[in-house]
Amino acid sequence: MIMQIGIDKMAFATTPYYLDLVDLAQARGEDPNKYLIGIGQNKQAVVPPTQDIVTLAAEAASRLLDDHDRKDISTVIVATESGIDNSKAAAIYVKQLLGLDDFVRTIEVKEACYSGTAAIQFARGLVALDPQQKVLVIAADIARYGLHTGGEVTQGAGAVAMLISADPQMLAIESGSVALSQDVMDFWRPIYATEAMVDGKYSTNVYIDFFQRTFDRYCQRQNKQLSDFAALAFHLPFTKMGKKALEAELGDQEDAISQRLRDNLVAEQAIPREVGNLYTGSLYLGLMSLLVNGDVQPGERIGLFSYGSGAEGEFYSGILQPNYQDGLKAASLALDHRQQVTVSEYEALFNQQLGMKAEDVNFDLSQDPSRFVLSGQRDHQRQYLTRS
Ligand code: CAA
Repeated sequence: MIMQIGIDKMAFATTPYYLDLVDLAQARGEDPNKYLIGIGQNKQAVVPPTQDIVTLAAEAASRLLDDHDRKDISTVIVATESGIDNSKAAAIYVKQLLGLDDFVRTIEVKEACYSGTAAIQFARGLVALDPQQKVLVIAADIARYGLHTGGEVTQGAGAVAMLISADPQMLAIESGSVALSQDVMDFWRPIYATEAMVDGKYSTNVYIDFFQRTFDRYCQRQNKQLSDFAALAFHLPFTKMGKKALEAELGDQEDAISQRLRDNLVAEQAIPREVGNLYTGSLYLGLMSLLVNGDVQPGERIGLFSYGSGAEGEFYSGILQPNYQDGLKAASLALDHRQQVTVSEYEALFNQQLGMKAEDVNFDLSQDPSRFVLSGQRDHQRQYLTRS
């Protein structure tokens, strides 16, 4: 029998604050419907200076690990494009905050929003070599374009943690994925910049082109067509992007198969609409949202399109497993405890991020209820705390 490898468990974490995009539209002199309908976002996560990709990653992972997992994890991979150090892997800090054994491999991977998928594929390879081991993949990012920029409405933050194992509870990944890369300047962040640079409209066109090319090649090679998929999950930098890509493929088709794909896209968009872009984690938060809100059944095939500017795309597929609900840490999707901030509070928090600052700093922790916090910086070293 062929060994199945894939996603065994998933959990999500975001920041304790959010901005209502109607407020942002009013402050920026835009019609709110441009943001709510045209972009397809309702809210975005706002990041206090006491949170970064390490604290978000640790929170997401802590929501899914039990004692057995802790014992079986051989490798921790953090996928991010908002890393905190040019040398040291964020996974080392995360491993420490989680209290994992020292005898694990800890690395960080990067290729814009795509690298969470690369991490999953590498993890599959490790598990194939030794099926006893589990690999913890965490896609964690803070999407930051800048105040008053075109991309501001598509900011967001959060982390999705996934356990990759043999005999996965949730999604058995199929062979035959198609990856595509080309040197394209649609979105990038030079080493000296804390905000992304983007050619926005161009980036949406490259995204659609990469989706169609990888999807067509996958279907050709695997002898598949739209009717073989219960749902197509997309990287969602903003939720309208997934709609643009799906409609480019469906064209004017109005049959039951297309309608189901459209309905399941709406299910995928539901939670990302309230959080914003997670960069590496966006596709996987969308997948969680689909599994909570969509019409999908065990045994059915889900297609996944991962895109990272620069650019890299990959289309792959997985078969939903009978007990997928058990692996989905749905409680971690609750967004009820977030606190709303005003536009001026958001702007102040945006400017308080540690970013490139080199000086010693102690942050006020009283406003952040999170378990894992960044308490400040001393001698160029970030200081983290775990609270009970
Ligand atoms: N009511 C309803 N809809 C409205 C409206 C209104 N009152 N006013 C405008 N709209 C619609 C527009 O018609 C448009 O719809 P379509 O895209 O379907 O044509 C939509 O709202 C957006 O309007 P604009 O095109 O005028 O918006 P913009 O110039 O402000 O730019 C953007 C939008 C390019 C997405 C910009 O927000 C941006 O640069 N975002 C960051 C880049 C990005 O996310 N790119 C995605 C692909 S790259 C990627 O995926 C990697 C990654 O994560 C970054």
